[in-house]
Amino acid sequence: MVNKYLYLNTIGCQMNVYDSEQIALRLAALGYQQTASLEKADLVIVNTCTIRAKAEQKAFSFLGRLARLKKKKPGLIAAVGGCVAQQEGDKIFKRIPYLDLVFGTQAIDRLPHLIQTIEKKRCRIVDIQQTDKPDFQEAQDHIFPTGQVSRFVTIMRGCDNFCAYCVVPYVRGRETSRHPDVILNEINQLAEAGVKEVTLLGQNVNSYGKKEGLGSFTELLWQIAQIEPLLRLRFTTSHPKDFDGELINAFRTNEKLCKHIHLPVQSGSNRVLERMNRKYTKELYLDKVAKLRDTCPEIAITSDFIVGFPGESEADFEETLDLIRTIEFDGLFAFKYSDRPNAPAAKFDAKVSDRQMKKRLQILLDLQETCTKKKNQALVGSCLSILVEGFSKRQISGDLNQPYQAVQWTGRTSTNKIVNFYRHGDSDNCEEIAPGQLVDVKIEKAYSHSLWGKPVERKGATGGLKGEKIYAA
Ligand code: 5AD
Ligand code: SF4
Repeated sequence: MVNKYLYLNTIGCQMNVYDSEQIALRLAALGYQQTASLEKADLVIVNTCTIRAKAEQKAFSFLGRLARLKKKKPGLIAAVGGCVAQQEGDKIFKRIPYLDLVFGTQAIDRLPHLIQTIEKKRCRIVDIQQTDKPDFQEAQDHIFPTGQVSRFVTIMRGCDNFCAYCVVPYVRGRETSRHPDVILNEINQLAEAGVKEVTLLGQNVNSYGKKEGLGSFTELLWQIAQIEPLLRLRFTTSHPKDFDGELINAFRTNEKLCKHIHLPVQSGSNRVLERMNRKYTKELYLDKVAKLRDTCPEIAITSDFIVGFPGESEADFEETLDLIRTIEFDGLFAFKYSDRPNAPAAKFDAKVSDRQMKKRLQILLDLQETCTKKKNQALVGSCLSILVEGFSKRQISGDLNQPYQAVQWTGRTSTNKIVNFYRHGDSDNCEEIAPGQLVDVKIEKAYSHSLWGKPVERKGATGGLKGEKIYAA
């Protein structure tokens, strides 16, 4: 088979990262090898995101850059996939006339056929068909790259929640769950290839399998936890309205389930939550967080916020700040509200000015920064179990007692905090370190976005099951 090169640009969320991996796997079967060089590419695909206007602009600015390349290399195939492709369909051809292919969020399985057709006929194709059937069920015969510690696995796609600001239900279609057998098969293959941690992806994992009668999400977690070489299990995202006692208990009972939950709240004002069509109140959210912390005190909680949703007053925003002060999140993502085509809020009046949104965003982020620092600082002196993800070589200067060069390892705690540490020479009393291992690290320094520590001898903590304990060193 002749070797051809694929340049794949992924914009957006983890689901797009997973989709891009699926794209690469399917095109590998056609002889396309991935390259990091745009000049070398025979096929360029941009997998796009449209959650906010900024992400969409990023896609179009990349496509603009492609024009020159296409002039130099007319045989190049240029394709757009993902959420912008789904949203815009053949309208993209007007804006980017040299494009060969527009494929939507449910066309990945058909991609090899689409590319082969273009190779043969040099025609232009748009495929944004949405079937809402679980045609993404079948795992490919994966040829997994080795050496990866952590991977994403999509367990469901689409969304039925229709939050007023959100484009996802329109571009990703109706909520559809993959069969547990297919998911388990894929994770087994990953585990065999050396993967130690999987993050299950879905817009609202709490409703996994409900429509199809496939069993609950918590049951799925238990089945996956049986896969022995796997040490850790994560998931994202949970919707507060559906986040229930069964899943809360799993944080206590399922030892492979990491002690972290991302629970987007979006606003602390009931008035705004109602206009957002979120279907819960601030009180309900607080109640669920309290139950979660009662059941699993060490749980880390992160969230998403939107500032400047249409009609958000200063008083509404103050309520959001109050909620942040009350809950003390471990971290959060915050966004300025962005009008999206199709999403109902685009037609809401009382839009908040960009200047106001910027101001509110900064206030919110500053408040959270103080909280994150405080939380990280509280971990100094404790010993945490880290799943090692990788390393980089660092020069150490000015310290004559240290070797000239050291390896800086990086990994995460069960609570999803990044920890960096050195292992120099044989001065440490721990075993040899490698990606995929659990290492106990005594935390010495705390920063805003990471922790710093020293590896210590493991105190009886062996596998993933016992390895997640936090104890005073
Ligand atoms: N404007 C701003 N932020 C948005 N999000 C989703 N849609 C919008 C929008 N139109 C944010 C929400 C969601 C996260 C993935 O993106 O906070 O949880
Ligand atoms: Fe969008 Fe709401 Fe669905 Fe999340 S739950 S993807 S915010 S519609």
